[in-house]
Amino acid sequence: MGRIAYVNGRFVPQAEAMVSIEDRGYQFADAVYEVWALFGGKLADPEGHFARLERSLSELSIAMPMSRKALTLVLKEAVRRNRVREGLVYLQVSRGVAKRDHPFPTTPVRPAVVITVSAVDRAASETRAAKGVGVVTTPETRWGRCDIKTVGLLPNVLAKQKAREAGSVEAWFVDELGFVTEGGSSNAWIVDADGRVRTRDTNANILRGVTRLSLLDVIREAGLEVEERPFTPADALAAKEAFITGAGTLVLPVVAVDGKPVGEGTPGPVATRLRRLYIEQARSTAI
Ligand SMILES: Cc1ncc(COP(=O)(O)O)c(C=O)c1O
Repeated sequence: MGRIAYVNGRFVPQAEAMVSIEDRGYQFADAVYEVWALFGGKLADPEGHFARLERSLSELSIAMPMSRKALTLVLKEAVRRNRVREGLVYLQVSRGVAKRDHPFPTTPVRPAVVITVSAVDRAASETRAAKGVGVVTTPETRWGRCDIKTVGLLPNVLAKQKAREAGSVEAWFVDELGFVTEGGSSNAWIVDADGRVRTRDTNANILRGVTRLSLLDVIREAGLEVEERPFTPADALAAKEAFITGAGTLVLPVVAVDGKPVGEGTPGPVATRLRRLYIEQARSTAI
């Protein structure tokens, strides 16, 4: 069965789906996006993703294209039509279509909405998690508003290509003070020598990952100590464990940084446990 996309009010075969060449998302990256993990055909961490979508749009003065309730129905209909149970839902909202001019259009335009759904092979993801992945470090080159989830992802594209060429899965951006900010499409974490779980604080220029936020609760409920405090690549190499989080990766153990092993060079017990606990929690609260 071919995939079905939602484009500006219509469900269409994805191969035939089209947007205008004057869509401001295409021309200026004047658009935001969200990605939900799908468990059993249901949207994971719904509240966190809707709240962040509304915030991203509001920071760019783009209106919500429809109510949260209506959007939920459209997202779920897109999932149903694609018959995907385990996967990802991608939503993009651009400012709309207008003659090319940098400032906002003077006559109001409707935000343009695109939704796609893709399947994920959970068995393959578990195999990958059981092996762990490598990350490479790369200088932070992004703009100062990484808290907004915009489609302007060129630095992330280049960083992740660098990772792929090194045989790694993710790139960690390192700021001018030498601290890891986050990954190209994930948040970065370590488990330090004292067993404390650590990730960058959200006063830093990072995306407030929804998986990150949910996992903070899971960690506390699991009785582990957690700190929102910067760490360097050297701290990661001296740590017991490292891992990344995101709607795509969930909780994924990191076993090497720039080709050097973290801890034993294999997925550690904390990351492995947190992956299981996060997935259980996300599955049971998905809508
Ligand atoms: C730069 C960046 N950081 C972090 C994340 C993780 O965010 P979330 O957990 O909401 O998927 C993403 C996800 O795409 C991302 O692109």
